Order: sequence, then structure tokens, then C-alpha cells
Amino acid sequence: PRVALLAGGLSHERDVSIRSGRRVAEALRSAGVEVSLHDVDADLVPALTELAPDLVWPLLHGASGEDGSVRDVVQLLGLRLLGTGPRASRVAWSKPIAKTVVSRAGIVTPEFVTLPQSLFRELGAGRVLDAIVGRLGLPVVVKPSRGGSALGVSVVRSADELPRAMVECFAYGGTALIERAVDGVEVAVSVVDLGDGPVALPPIEIVTDGPYDYDARYNPGRVEYFAPARLAPETRAAVEDVAITAHRALGLARLSRADLIIDEDGVVHFLEVNVTPGMTETSLLPQAAEAAGHNLGALYRALVEASLA
Ligand code: DAL
Ligand code: MG
Repeated sequence: PRVALLAGGLSHERDVSIRSGRRVAEALRSAGVEVSLHDVDADLVPALTELAPDLVWPLLHGASGEDGSVRDVVQLLGLRLLGTGPRASRVAWSKPIAKTVVSRAGIVTPEFVTLPQSLFRELGAGRVLDAIVGRLGLPVVVKPSRGGSALGVSVVRSADELPRAMVECFAYGGTALIERAVDGVEVAVSVVDLGDGPVALPPIEIVTDGPYDYDARYNPGRVEYFAPARLAPETRAAVEDVAITAHRALGLARLSRADLIIDEDGVVHFLEVNVTPGMTETSLLPQAAEAAGHNLGALYRALVEASLA
């Protein structure tokens, strides 16, 4: 099959996406798949029309890739898509909406409020802080309600940290998601579906000295990963169950990754799900796949074949 990989684009995660695209292209080629790698720009429609690939695999992180809009274009061109469709992408890409959907499916997710920038301006930091502390207490995590790679994310532990956190957040999006910070073990569970339904890959545990921020994610050595995570069997089963339940509840397809925290009582908290999980050399899905004994080329080829079946 001929597969067009879409990477790059114009989101804040452009560089990450280029790295994901390169890695997946290499792996697929090593498995004998014919691949063309496209940096997504205004020429996407003529490029895809001329190429007429058998399958389009969007490896775009961030807006336009994960919000469903490029996926919409691919489908409107009558081309086949690997992964989640446009509508489910749009839902999953919004953290507050995804949290609401999964909590209806019985999953625990940190309590939260959303705050548009205009309302923040109108109310001012003081009143917003009072409202947040009254409702959620401190610490809280402030993040763009739609975003990725921890860009614009801060932990607010004291009142004086709030204004800066809001500025950072609004640099990446017009609405903030403010959620109660949960202390515990951070794990990511990737899910793949090779045609027989979604299956969890081994959970990856993330251990950092500082925050698990953009630099920590993409510079080797700043994070210690445990693949698989050091979890009791029942806890591992619980996190895998949450990831699969979220994948199904959100209508995701083929692959996804849920980011979770296990608190000291063993309760699994859902933070978010990724429609286009990072596939770079330091990303979590490839680590999980290797921990499960998969060869990356063979696994990606199997995802392609399942999408064409
Ligand atoms: N948003 C990045 C790419 C990730 O979740 O891996
Ligand atoms: Mg994410």
C-alpha cells in the first residue's frame, strides 16, 4: 500500500510532529511500506489529490491535526484515514469535553472549571483566585483547554502564582482549564486496535525531578521512564481498563494514549487522551510498543493493514 503521512503543520507542536513523522516513516519503510511524508501547508488538497494514496495517516499534533479539521479534509477528498475520525477528534481534543464524556462512563477525573480569557480580564486575578480556591482549593493545574505537549501548563500552589499561569496558558488558547492537582504516580497507557478491538500496551511510568514539561518530554535524559510501570497487577489492570474505557467512550479509532495519575489510595484519575500520540524517539507509545515486544515497523504496518481491511 501507499501511505501518505501528514506531519508538521502550523500548530505549536509543529516540531514534535515533524519528529513523529520522520520516525514513523522510517519504521514503515523498514517494514516494506511505501511512504510519502508531507509537511501540511496550503497545498495539502492538490498534493493529496495528485498522489491519491491508499491511506492517509495524520501525525499532526495540536490544532488542525488533533481537532479534526485536517481529518475532515482527508475524508472530503474520499481518502481513507488511519485513526480517529474528525468528529471524535474534535470531542477528544477539548480536555473539558473529554473529561465530561469519560466521567459519564464512570471514570474519575480531577474536578475542574473552565475560564475564557475574556472573563478572566473582566473579573481580574483576585476574584478568579477566590472563586478557584473556594471551589477547588490549591494547588491547581492551569492548562489550555485545547493543547498538547504540556505547552502553557503550570501548577499553581499559591495565590501569587496565578497571574503568570494564566498568561502562559492564554498564550496557547483562549480558554483555560483549571483542575484540582492530584498527587501521585503519572502513567500513560497507549491503546492500539489491530482489527480485533482496542488493546492496552504496557503502561509507562513517568518520573521527573521537575515538571514533565516540553523540555523534559523531548530532550533525552530529563525523565526516567519505567516500561512497564512499577504497578501491582490490580493497579495495572485498572489503568488499562480506564484507557480502554476512555478510548471506547470517546469513539477513538486505531490508536490513542490516555494520560493518567494514580493517587495514594490507588484511585486512577483521567487527565486527557491523545488522538495523535507522540511518536518521537522520546515519546510514550513507541516505548510502550517496544516494552510489549513489538517491532515498531511491524506494528505500524499492522495498523496500516487493519485500516485498509
Ligand atoms: N501531544 C504530544 C505529541 C503527545 O501527547 O505525545
Ligand atoms: Mg496531550
